[in-house]
Amino acid sequence: MTTTNDEQQITIGARRSPGPSVQDLHRADTGPVPRALLDESYVPQGQADVPKARYTSPAFAALENEFMWTSTWQLACLADEIRQPGDHVVYDVADQSLLVTRLRDGSIRAFHNACLHRGTKLRTEDGRVASFRCPFHGWRWDLDGTLAEIPGGWDFPHITCDATRSCLPEAQVAEWQGFVFVNMDPTAAPFEEVAAKLIDHFSDSFDYANRYCTFHAVKEVPANWKVCMEAFSEGYHVIATHPQIVEFAGDDNSEYSIWPDSKYVTRFVNGFGIQSPHLAEIPQQQILDAYLAFSSKAAQRVGSATNAPVPEGKTARQVAAEVFRAGMGARYGTDLSAYSDTEILDAHLYHLFPAFAPWAGIGQPLVYRWRPGATPDTCFMDVYRMAPVPDGQERPAPAECQRLTLEQEWHEAAGMGQLADVFAQDMSNFPRVQAGLKSTGKRGVTFGDYQEARLRLIHRNIDECILAGLAASGRSHAEAQPYLVPEG
Ligand code: FES
Ligand SMILES: [Fe+2]
Repeated sequence: MTTTNDEQQITIGARRSPGPSVQDLHRADTGPVPRALLDESYVPQGQADVPKARYTSPAFAALENEFMWTSTWQLACLADEIRQPGDHVVYDVADQSLLVTRLRDGSIRAFHNACLHRGTKLRTEDGRVASFRCPFHGWRWDLDGTLAEIPGGWDFPHITCDATRSCLPEAQVAEWQGFVFVNMDPTAAPFEEVAAKLIDHFSDSFDYANRYCTFHAVKEVPANWKVCMEAFSEGYHVIATHPQIVEFAGDDNSEYSIWPDSKYVTRFVNGFGIQSPHLAEIPQQQILDAYLAFSSKAAQRVGSATNAPVPEGKTARQVAAEVFRAGMGARYGTDLSAYSDTEILDAHLYHLFPAFAPWAGIGQPLVYRWRPGATPDTCFMDVYRMAPVPDGQERPAPAECQRLTLEQEWHEAAGMGQLADVFAQDMSNFPRVQAGLKSTGKRGVTFGDYQEARLRLIHRNIDECILAGLAASGRSHAEAQPYLVPEG
């Protein structure tokens, strides 16, 4: 397929899978579908192959580390993790580290996590302190980043405790719906501007502010961070990687939104309780039976009925919504009767560039985060499960983070539930992808016009950061040139 004439250009991304669209499902919903989910959009992103060295090259990873991870808004922690003054989280990304901490006045600040004496990393673990004391010679900073003590200060007449230059350098901080974001670039556009679409969509539809973390695990993963992130950003892989769900997942009928005014926020919606268009038509009862059997092991749905009839005139999707609305409501101790079918059933995964992905709705209360590893061949992926705070109860404390090594399996994270099976399937592809990307047969990866358009946009955003960073530091674009996403 080429893009050599105007007619083909116009049709890029216009084709859709047979079967009901996500908007068709919304029209048949038994409840009021949130405004945000009716806001659907697509912007063609082109068709040219994307250089695969972007996933494997240490030189490109170094450009990402220097210019992209240092200039973008990233999830650093949950506000619940730093409730008390002195509580702090160490946010490590690429070769950078920030101390994200709660001050005595209740505000949250993020400091570069390096001693201003001779550079020692001040904290290596999360915790609570009265001040930040360097383990090497004992220089000490107050929670607000001001220098509080220099042992043997007589030898440092050139350093004063209240001098601006003695304060720990800061990163920008933004708090949104219980998530704490940081950006190391003091000139970066505000979070509220970059994430405007996310903020708008979640403002009256999806309530993360009233959720708390019931599960958090982070695992080192054998793939480039983009390989991993991309595997969780499309439903195209379901038929080959997760064939056990095709009886009740409208994989190829998923909706992928790119909005013309919001290049940093995109969305992927996969409808459930309908069959895959890959299958010949199957009975509604079979769809429901398969869905309930599969979901009985899902952590948020344990306690829901495991079988139910599909009465005449109803669909498997409608009955599944009723079953889960009741079951999850009882499990969470909250009334879910106002939630639409799509919020109960479907997977709505938003993505804020570069690496924050919250699920909307209530049926999949997950949040993902990705960070690069020590080499281009590994990365870190965080999974949070965010359940509603039970009606009338105090906010519970967030779950402790479970850390899994490269060798460990997701199954080893207590409370991961059935999600671990699905993740194991996704992850089983990664070493093969990473190896295949290094073989020389073809220089680029090929993306679909529609289902994988968001991936191409994310790559373009990375390029934008790198080119801006090179220009700002007076370096030539030439060093990025071999890796750039081609136009068209
Ligand atoms: S390096 Fe931190 S006090 Fe010396
Ligand atoms: Fe998957």
